[in-house]
Amino acid sequence: MRQFDNSTIRQLSHETTISHSPTETSKLAQDLASQIKPGSILALCGDLGSGKTTFTQSLAKALGITQRVTSPTFILMRQYPLPQSSGMFYHLDLYRIGSPEDIKSIDLEELIAEGTNIIVIEWPEKIETILPPHTLKIYFKTTSATTREITLSSL
Ligand SMILES: Nc1ncnc2c1ncn2[C@@H]1O[C@H](COP(=O)(O)OP(=O)(O)OP(=O)(O)O)[C@@H](O)[C@H]1O
Ligand SMILES: [Mg+2]
Repeated sequence: MRQFDNSTIRQLSHETTISHSPTETSKLAQDLASQIKPGSILALCGDLGSGKTTFTQSLAKALGITQRVTSPTFILMRQYPLPQSSGMFYHLDLYRIGSPEDIKSIDLEELIAEGTNIIVIEWPEKIETILPPHTLKIYFKTTSATTREITLSSL
């Protein structure tokens, strides 16, 4: 399986990796973690059960978050302090919202503007218009019970 090691995300733009198991999806997240800087926004696109939360849990762990990261489906957003940083790791799941209006209780633009947070958004299509151009999009596609095609967009 393709590893991200020292190469840049840019070089991997539009490359598709095939993950054959949740463990491989976790490994991909770990490899990507070294490229994720404070201020990064990740938009995870893909159907139900395509691996977005699995990826997020491993990314959080690789970033040093020791709390268990659980899906925020019913509460829209969970937050975890980032170790050795003033920023937070925010995990949003917007599956249940209808329009950007539904998250006005969360000042997402402010969290983005702070520039110190890492923000991971499942179902980002719902708020596409407010995501900044530097958002890294990752596409998850279910191709069998155990395989997923994972593609990084350009930066
Ligand atoms: N290669 C794989 N990568 C990731 N998950 C896999 C893979 N193969 C099987 N799975 C299974 O698919 C499921 C993925 O669930 P997960 O909650 O991560 O998806 P999701 O994209 O967050 O879904 P939702 O849109 O409902 O939030 C898990 O049960 C996991 O065990
Ligand atoms: Mg999920």
